[in-house]
Formats: sequence, structure tokens, C-alpha cells
Amino acid sequence: MSTSLHVALVYNVKHEETPVASATEAPSTAPRTNNSVAVDAARAALTRDDTYAEWDTEETILAVKSALEQRHRVSLVEADRNAFNVLASLQPDIVFNIAEGLRGPSREAQIPAVLEMLGLPYTGSDPLTLGICLDKSRAKEILAYHGVATPAFHVVESVSDLVGLDLPLPAIVKPLHEGSSKGIMNSSVVRTPQEMEAEVRRVTERYHEPALIEQFLTGREFTVALIGNGDDVRVLPIVEIKFDDLPAGANPIWSFEAKWMWDTLDKPLDVHECPAQLTPELEHKIAELCKRSYRLLRCRDWCRIDVRFDAAGEPHLIELNPLPGILPNPDDHSCFPQAARAAGIDYDRMINMVLDAALVRIGRRNSLPT
Ligand SMILES: Nc1ncnc2c1ncn2[C@@H]1O[C@H](COP(=O)(O)OP(=O)(O)OP(=O)(O)O)[C@@H](O)[C@H]1O
Ligand SMILES: [Mg+2]
Repeated sequence: MSTSLHVALVYNVKHEETPVASATEAPSTAPRTNNSVAVDAARAALTRDDTYAEWDTEETILAVKSALEQRHRVSLVEADRNAFNVLASLQPDIVFNIAEGLRGPSREAQIPAVLEMLGLPYTGSDPLTLGICLDKSRAKEILAYHGVATPAFHVVESVSDLVGLDLPLPAIVKPLHEGSSKGIMNSSVVRTPQEMEAEVRRVTERYHEPALIEQFLTGREFTVALIGNGDDVRVLPIVEIKFDDLPAGANPIWSFEAKWMWDTLDKPLDVHECPAQLTPELEHKIAELCKRSYRLLRCRDWCRIDVRFDAAGEPHLIELNPLPGILPNPDDHSCFPQAARAAGIDYDRMINMVLDAALVRIGRRNSLPT
């Protein structure tokens, strides 16, 4: 067993939320909030401005802190411009990294790069993997090179790049560097060249980044949570994303509207089924696809991977999330914690499993607990 360690929890907190106390002034036993009013306020703020859609709420940050505090001493560190100095003076034994980063396509790599520079071990993937996975086209290029099925795609920097292109329809147009369905609206599914042009314009002008145009897959959708490394990678029960409960006429995608506006705590959508109802063969096929992709992208400790079937029922890799969302409130329909719960793993244990996977990887623990 590892002894109690000093763990720094590094995060970005969502704007319009009360800032979480800084490392120096953090009480060691901060109360765990589970405040639906605050959650709904955060959702409402998001629909006005999605800039910080990926950042965590205070509720999530305090839930992770409380989980880690079951065994360790925890310091909170906000991943802002002071983070380098704060971490250099704290010298924690390990960092639990949930920081989404400040800005830019490599934002998720910022804190891991700082930690590499300081020689501090941390949970999760390294800057290279985080950077690649946040550029969906780079990740897909690697997968395609290795023969992993992923929807055909094309990257354009502006509408003028569409001239002379004859891309197959229907397609889905997504921002190249975002997560949390940011920029993926119901209108992102395009069936005509005019719709494609309008969506490319919206994405490139609104987000100032290239648009990824992908073959639209019409089959069932799944998301898969993985924890561990090497031969010890554990695939948690597969979550199916269901579209039956979306408003009539909505496209069958997990859009920004679906995730943050239509699915509310007051009127929850029936969006997830976990474990997904699959034949053992299909379950095995999806799990193997995800484990292979995890290995190919060199993910570490944990990741959530999105998969969708094509019309023929063949699974394709949509994207990898090496910093998965982990909302603690079960009513929030957060897939990673939901998959863990289906395996009988509560939130606190899930967080500690990720930490333990990192500790085993860096040689601070001999093995994972069962
Ligand atoms: N090629 C595709 N074919 C069909 N549906 C797709 C495709 N790409 C994306 N989608 C739909 O859009 C949703 C969001 O896409 P994607 O997972 O790429 O975005 P994201 O913002 O990175 O999501 P996350 O919240 O997982 O970070 C998917 O869950 C799926 O419903
Ligand atoms: Mg996704």
C-alpha cells in the first residue's frame, strides 16, 4: 500500500462560479457542495457564453478533492498564470490533473508541460497525447494510419477552402479543437452544400479555428471509460447515448443543445443506458477498438472514448477524451462516473483508482487494488 501523500489538485474553475480557495488559503476539509441551483446557474451561463464550457464547476473540484482526501493531503491549485510558481513551491508528491488549460489548441497540454518542466509526476496523459487528442484531425490521422475505423474527414480553414471540394453528404461540421460539444449544434449535421457552407462559416468565424467535416454516422453511439495502463487497462461498462428522448425533429447527435440546454436537472432527458445492451461479440469489438486506440494514442491512467456505428453496424472511433468530464452529481448524466457506478465503483473510489493507476505507473505503488 502507498502511504498518505501530498497531492496537488490542479483545475480550471468555470467563470461565473465562486472561485475555489487558492492553494495557500484552502481549508483542508472544504465542504462538498451538491447544489442544484448552482448547477442550473452554471448551465444557464453556459448557454449565454460557451467559452469555458470545458472548465469544471466548484462542485466537481470539491468532489475530487474530497475523494482524494480520504487517503491523502490535498492542496488546490488553480491552473492560471501563477500555477508554475505555486507548484514549484508546493512540491507535491503527485499532481491530480483535471486542468483544461487557459487557451489555444494545446491548452490541455499546458499544465502537464509545466509539470514535466518541474519534474513533478501527475495523473493522466502527457502533453503530446493531450495536444493530439484535442486536434481531432491529428488523432484521426494516427488512428487511420494504423487501420482503426474512423469517419472519413476533411479539414477546412474557411468557406473558401470548400471551393471545388465534393464532400459526401450527410456530414457533420465540428470545431477542430473543442470538447464538451462546444460548437456542435443541432444544425451541425448538414445535408446540402449550402448547409455545409453555413456551418463552416459559423464554426470558423465564431471559434476562429478550422472546421472538421466528417462523414455522418447514423448508427448507435457509445462512450467508453477506461482506467489503467499497459495490460491492466480496465474497460468500464459501456454507456450507450440514446437519442429517442430528444425533441421531435432534432438530429440524432449529442449536441450542445442536447447536453447543456435540453437535458436539465428539472427535466432530465433519458440519454444514457449503462451497461449498453450489446451482444458479447459487439461489446468485445467496441472494447478492443477502444483499448487499441488508447494504446495507439499513448493515453495514460484514464480516458473516455466515443464510438459510433455506421449504417452497417460497424464501430468507428469518433474521438478520445484523455481528460474526461467527471460531474459528481448522478443527475448530471456524466458518462465516466456513470460507467464507474455501473461497475459498482463510487465516485470517490473512481478518483482514487485513477490516482493509483498513476502511482503504479511511476513506481510509487506495486499494484492496483482490486
Ligand atoms: N462523425 C460523426 N457521425 C455521427 N455523429 C457524430 C459524429 N461526430 C460527432 N457526432 C455527434 O456529435 C457529438 C459530439 O461530437 P464529439 O464527441 O466529436 O464532440 P466533443 O465536443 O469533443 O464531445 P465531448 O463532450 O465528448 O468532449 C457526438 O457525441 C455524436 O453524437
Ligand atoms: Mg465526444
